[in-house]
Amino acid sequence: MPEQVLLAFELKRAQTNELGPEGCTRDDGGLGRAARPTQRDRRQHRREPTLNFVPAVHDDPDHPDPLLVELYRSLPDADDPEPWLDWCRGAAEVLYIGVGTGRLAVPLSRAGVRLIGVDAHPGMLAHLRSRLPEVELIQARVEDLDLGRQFDFVMAPSHLLASHERLRAAARHCRGRIAIQLLNPYWLAGPSHPGVRVHELGHDRARLEVSYPGGWTHPATVDLVWPEGMEAFLDAAGLRLLLLRGEDPEAGLEESPTFYALAARSSRRARIPST
Ligand SMILES: C[S@@+](CC[C@H](N)C(=O)[O-])C[C@H]1O[C@@H](n2cnc3c(N)ncnc32)[C@H](O)[C@@H]1O
Repeated sequence: MPEQVLLAFELKRAQTNELGPEGCTRDDGGLGRAARPTQRDRRQHRREPTLNFVPAVHDDPDHPDPLLVELYRSLPDADDPEPWLDWCRGAAEVLYIGVGTGRLAVPLSRAGVRLIGVDAHPGMLAHLRSRLPEVELIQARVEDLDLGRQFDFVMAPSHLLASHERLRAAARHCRGRIAIQLLNPYWLAGPSHPGVRVHELGHDRARLEVSYPGGWTHPATVDLVWPEGMEAFLDAAGLRLLLLRGEDPEAGLEESPTFYALAARSSRRARIPST
């Protein structure tokens, strides 16, 4: 199961964090080395546990990493929950997939959005439950999700729905609109992507490492969807594209680290002429 990359609004924060020995695991010699400390690391770590040894965090729904909770607890809540808040307006209930510890869910909930949160990680949900005891939280992998009900709005930040299987499962729970946020392959392929070290970039997949303030790193292999492929990607899940935009709606899409797609259930039959 490919890991999810830790990407949402906080990628902006990562961009301000210089990549280098302090911001990453030991070196840039590859994902395996970055994730596994050397003998020298272990010796140093024993002597000076707080110096230089930087934990690698994994987001694997089949093997929940306790450090993921620590990382997300260390991040501040989003002070500007747009564009999500705008898209949530008017929805009686919003299904939030990959809800995490509440970095975004708490501001949305405080703004009056009625959320139902889904996450595969029991530790993330336990923390969020302590912050939002009134919100319904469901522990499930999105690919297995079968709630038997549909929502006016379904949202999935953080590159969570980059596979057909996951998008189809989310789309089954949507009766109105759905919004997803994905890593932008154009940005990864560009000359500069501060905070993200790209080890390999293919057309369909990238192997990379995200660096966070505080020294956290997140190695991940991610599926890629290019912006021009979004219509076909959505169509395969019975969705039609309404809007495609970067983080700054005024700026060019290629410069944006991530992009958003807003979509609705397609009503193919309505398009077929009746004669
Ligand atoms: C990068 S974190 C983002 C959390 C939150 N959306 C935020 O922006 O703060 C991704 C979240 O998705 C969850 N997740 C990862 N893979 C998942 C899957 N297959 N099904 C459900 N949740 C998943 C992780 O446990 C984690 O809480």
